[in-house]
Amino acid sequence: MNQMEVSFSATLDNENFARTTVGAFLTPLNPTIDEIIEMKTIVSEAVSNAIIHGYNNNPECHVVIKMEIEDRLVRLVIQDYGKGIENLEQVKTPFYTTAKDLEHAGMGITIIETLADSLEIESVINIGTKLIITKRLKDHG
Ligand SMILES: Nc1ncnc2c1ncn2[C@@H]1O[C@H](COP(=O)(O)OP(=O)(O)O)[C@@H](O)[C@H]1O
Ligand SMILES: [Mg+2]
Repeated sequence: MNQMEVSFSATLDNENFARTTVGAFLTPLNPTIDEIIEMKTIVSEAVSNAIIHGYNNNPECHVVIKMEIEDRLVRLVIQDYGKGIENLEQVKTPFYTTAKDLEHAGMGITIIETLADSLEIESVINIGTKLIITKRLKDHG
């Protein structure tokens, strides 16, 4: 088992830090380019949701990423202590969004669910939101 944990300020300036960190932690497993892109896309969607929806872009708040790798099974937890999801039953529905501007198509959670092997969402209003994501990397070589 290999494990890491990072905590960073809730600003979109840190989205690339989060993507790159998760990508770097996978490197010893020699993932395919597609696997790296998929994992980074998952991280982008989850982290941007935590920052924008969870924290309203308040950089005094923190997003936490925990990652565990056992054999080739990756377990990723992306967590905020923000406002929580109002409508937990609807959030996995494509195009569901509470942000009514063009940049929010309501596809982030759907994309995560498509790219991951499993997605569990735990959320409590005014306590925060935790996404638990698993993805098994292909065996090769
Ligand atoms: N970490 C979070 N904290 C609070 N609300 C969230 C969080 N993640 C998602 N949501 C809610 O779920 C909705 C759907 O998220 P998503 O599928 O990524 O679409 P979008 O970000 O385009 O609105 C968001 O509009 C928001 O209401
Ligand atoms: Mg989103």
